[in-house]
Amino acid sequence: MIETGADGRTWLLSGPRSSYALRLTEHDELLHLHWGPQITLADAEALAAEPLPPARPFESALDGREEYPVEGGPRFVPPALSVRGGGVRGTEWRYRNAAADEDELQLHFFDPVHQLRITLVYRLRGDVIERQVVLVHEGRFGTSEVELLREDPATWTLPARDRWRLSQLHGRWAAESRLVRADLTYGEQVIGSRRGHTGHHHLPWVALDAGEATEESGEVYSCALAWSGSWRVSVHRLPDGTVQITGGSGHDGSGQHLLAPGTAVVTPVFAGLWTDGGFGGASRAWHAYQHAHVIPDAGTPRPVLYNSWEATGFDISEGQQRKLARRAAALGVELFVVDDAWFGERVSDRAGLGDWTPNPDRFPGGLGPLADEVHGLGMRFGIWVEPEMVNPDSDLYRAHPDWVQHQHGRTRTEFRNQLVLDLTREDVRAHLWRRLDGLLSSAPVDYVKWDFNRPFTDVGRPGAAYPQGLWSGHTHALYDLLDRLRQAHPDVAFESCSGGGGRIDLGILSRTDQVWTSDNTDPLDRLAIQHGFSQLHPARVMAAWVTDSPNTQLNGRVSSLCFRFVSAMAGVLGIGGDLTRWTEGELAEARDWVALYKEIRPVVQLGDLYRLRPPGDGLSAVQYVRGDDSVVLAWLRAQAYGEEPAPVRLRGLDPAAAYVCPDTGETYRGAVLLHRGLRTGLTGDLDAAVFRLRRV
Ligand code: DGJ
Repeated sequence: MIETGADGRTWLLSGPRSSYALRLTEHDELLHLHWGPQITLADAEALAAEPLPPARPFESALDGREEYPVEGGPRFVPPALSVRGGGVRGTEWRYRNAAADEDELQLHFFDPVHQLRITLVYRLRGDVIERQVVLVHEGRFGTSEVELLREDPATWTLPARDRWRLSQLHGRWAAESRLVRADLTYGEQVIGSRRGHTGHHHLPWVALDAGEATEESGEVYSCALAWSGSWRVSVHRLPDGTVQITGGSGHDGSGQHLLAPGTAVVTPVFAGLWTDGGFGGASRAWHAYQHAHVIPDAGTPRPVLYNSWEATGFDISEGQQRKLARRAAALGVELFVVDDAWFGERVSDRAGLGDWTPNPDRFPGGLGPLADEVHGLGMRFGIWVEPEMVNPDSDLYRAHPDWVQHQHGRTRTEFRNQLVLDLTREDVRAHLWRRLDGLLSSAPVDYVKWDFNRPFTDVGRPGAAYPQGLWSGHTHALYDLLDRLRQAHPDVAFESCSGGGGRIDLGILSRTDQVWTSDNTDPLDRLAIQHGFSQLHPARVMAAWVTDSPNTQLNGRVSSLCFRFVSAMAGVLGIGGDLTRWTEGELAEARDWVALYKEIRPVVQLGDLYRLRPPGDGLSAVQYVRGDDSVVLAWLRAQAYGEEPAPVRLRGLDPAAAYVCPDTGETYRGAVLLHRGLRTGLTGDLDAAVFRLRRV
């Protein structure tokens, strides 16, 4: 609900548990009043009536109090908007008007020098607020262009506290989204990506608490960006103890572009959430938001998939894929995905990227016959692509060496022997559309794993005027291509992958069905990655595979099939091992795990997540609750001193109800599970179990 004060200059946005208030002064300064528990309009107006504290020498009274600090005037905080035009720097806006309905507020401002309309947009989505900015050059043809150096969708303002603690999800390839929590000192801490994609090194999310929040209680502020290119989020602790979080697309000067008269720019969304339900409450609210407003068709659970990458690498053939498909189908797999190396001269990572036609030696009849067999086995059929890239050793590159991002007279830097196509070129976009649309029309493909395996380096297009707009233009072109493909092929599902979890954010999630969480499929490492991932994103999009033991990709760790399955069952279950080498006993056991997963899948993928104990040296556990059903997944890393691990206290149950568990054969009192906890019975090293609970 959105309410407007009597003089039309105070606004109050209220979600089910939170409120957000702002005020326009008589000097057209837009001040932040409140973000936190629900308040009334009278409370907001009382806050609005308070005068700004006097500015101290060398400081500005506006700093730390403005909704959207622009560059220019008495401001020294990181500007959310930085523009130039006609030799004039910065913005001085005048208020025009506001438009509000049930869940959207738009505030329109105008800078007469730049002829720039600035609209701040607020959209209420439960307790999540989506913020976005629209910039329109209203000048007539012939007036000077406005140069945009930075246009962030939002600055989020947090109240003064004695202490602030910053949580972030940092990582690197094969070790993505690990949660780090540390005190925030004074000044700015900046996280982001300078790589052209969201990146493995940080998920675009931060959470702040006053050092007191726990998993299940306390105030937590968090923000997440919906953008899949380079980005930047600055968390700034001011001298008075307030914090401002400013973020958006583009890093350093990379986002720079020109706004011509009559044109407009719409920023990505930077969403914010306040909760007093602790870190777990924040995660559940983010998950509910993504289910309701971000992920396509989120109410439909994702199928169990098989992916051939770890089993076959680049050495693939139709016969071998058929064999794997038969084994996968016998396990109960529902979607069979052929990974890399089905196309062109792709016998290693040195060649073939860009040539999206089936390799005739490997698939003499094209992909159709394999797809038909997969369908005949009762599974859906998926393929891997990496459309934004090209190997220099490819027909595409030989025909169009100028189609890649590069700079005149400079080295074309290769990573994984590949270069990045310049998607801001119309001819490249038209080519990709034809190839991909053709591919999806020529064989019965139900699923596309869309990969991106190197960062940007030599961003440029010789001959094009500066600023070239390649950094953000690439992401917009990617979104456009995905949107068009989804529209033309509505039954095809898409997975976002970038060498594992290098492209996971709210932007890509609004146009893909699930993401590849990490190339690290070791089931123990994966628990920490999944713990971090779940801070923001729900199990419904978190793909996880059971692979071989010893782990072939990374660390050679030996683990039981049970531990591997229970680890992967915390998300969208997949299998990625070499099934031709699994024993009959392993295949039979795997069949049972897949059947069990299908039973618990609606609870895992669509239920509420409670992180009962974080991954560590001993016991860790998560719980999902959906209606009368609950599922607990528990893992024991190592048993110490021969002691039985402490019972895990469950959440989200009715204390007055009884719960039956077919896995232990017991019936438990809800109050006992909540207070004393569930005895897992796990022993030794790397043990794991699933507990289903149903209210009786
Ligand atoms: C990186 C992905 O993360 C892997 O799963 C696999 O698809 C390879 N690329 C294929 O080259």
